[in-house]
Amino acid sequence: MNRRLYMSAPDVGESEERYVLEAMRSGWIAPLGPDVDAFENSIAALTERSHAVALSSGTAALHLALLAHDVQADDTVLTSTMTFAATANAIRYVGARPYFIDSLESTGNIDPSLLEEALVALTARGERAAAILPVDLLGKVADYPAITALAERFNVPILSDAAESLGASHLGCPAGSFGSAAAISFNGNKIMTTSGGGMLLTDDPEVASRVRYLATQARQPVAHYEHTEVGYNYRLSNILAALGRAQLQRLPTMIARRREIRDLYRSLFADVPGVNIFGGTKDAEDNFWLTSILVDPTISGWQASELSTALAADNIESRPLWKPMHLQPVFAQDRALVNGVSERLFETGITLPSGSVLSDADLDRITNRIRAFLGSK
Ligand SMILES: Cc1ncc(COP(=O)(O)O)c(C=O)c1O
Repeated sequence: MNRRLYMSAPDVGESEERYVLEAMRSGWIAPLGPDVDAFENSIAALTERSHAVALSSGTAALHLALLAHDVQADDTVLTSTMTFAATANAIRYVGARPYFIDSLESTGNIDPSLLEEALVALTARGERAAAILPVDLLGKVADYPAITALAERFNVPILSDAAESLGASHLGCPAGSFGSAAAISFNGNKIMTTSGGGMLLTDDPEVASRVRYLATQARQPVAHYEHTEVGYNYRLSNILAALGRAQLQRLPTMIARRREIRDLYRSLFADVPGVNIFGGTKDAEDNFWLTSILVDPTISGWQASELSTALAADNIESRPLWKPMHLQPVFAQDRALVNGVSERLFETGITLPSGSVLSDADLDRITNRIRAFLGSK
């Protein structure tokens, strides 16, 4: 069997080894230290935020963002149905109820007109959403100008799930800069990784210090470990922050490589009827995290899943887009305002290997397989 090619494997090399080794030799092995501080400062600068708190995962960042905005049991949080389960899970962690909103066809991001409809309906019933939690799907930033206008009109804070969009931008503003707080992820499959990790971004010093406090077991600043509320062990280790610092230096190169891969698929499918690159119209704003195609079987004569099967036969990973949250059994009882777009994206989309670690030879293997598949149709 050929070596497995993943959709988005970690891309680490000599500089990562050097940074991690230096951190270990420095004696800073704990979940605090100079690499954590430097990593927080660099990510805050990149995302144009005043504060960044390094955490053990993007999910932890979402959880603490909700807590720091006082989202409580039985509150309603409006969020995108087209997302990874972590977004909705975090809402459940605080006992709140997700209210899933369908997607824009162009990007899969939350549809502002449906969001408005949901906010109007809630208000008419005398309810108020505790937060709006938009997701930047696959590295494309949600329509924050429209979402912000609604958030202001209905007086609801925005918490941005920017787990997938570090390095992307919208109208000149970086991903992670939108909303009262934003969460990013450094999970192993992301555009850059700390193996596992995340960060909470905000301009509000009170939110930042509350998140730092909750992430450190809610320890009061006294010597004898005084606790007045329940806390969490969510800080990022200094060694992993060192890995993150090395990755961050290479972020532009890694984005450029993912962009080359997007271009390769674009030219490969350019003349294939019924196949379009998903959301691939605004290259200047994209971080190219993952490249997906949408396949219209009535035109192409084949289903996205057939291509996936052909790739799997050569040990090449591909996957459908996220299964919308309103279709997930665990969230079946939660409210949803849907219009079929996310379900269609789920049925017709397939994500192809997109990681910056893929070599030219790997890409030849993938594109040859795809060409052979297309030739067989
Ligand atoms: C949209 C989205 N939100 C949240 C997360 C959670 O991030 P983490 O895996 O770092 O907890 C992820 C990725 O894993 C994600 O894709």
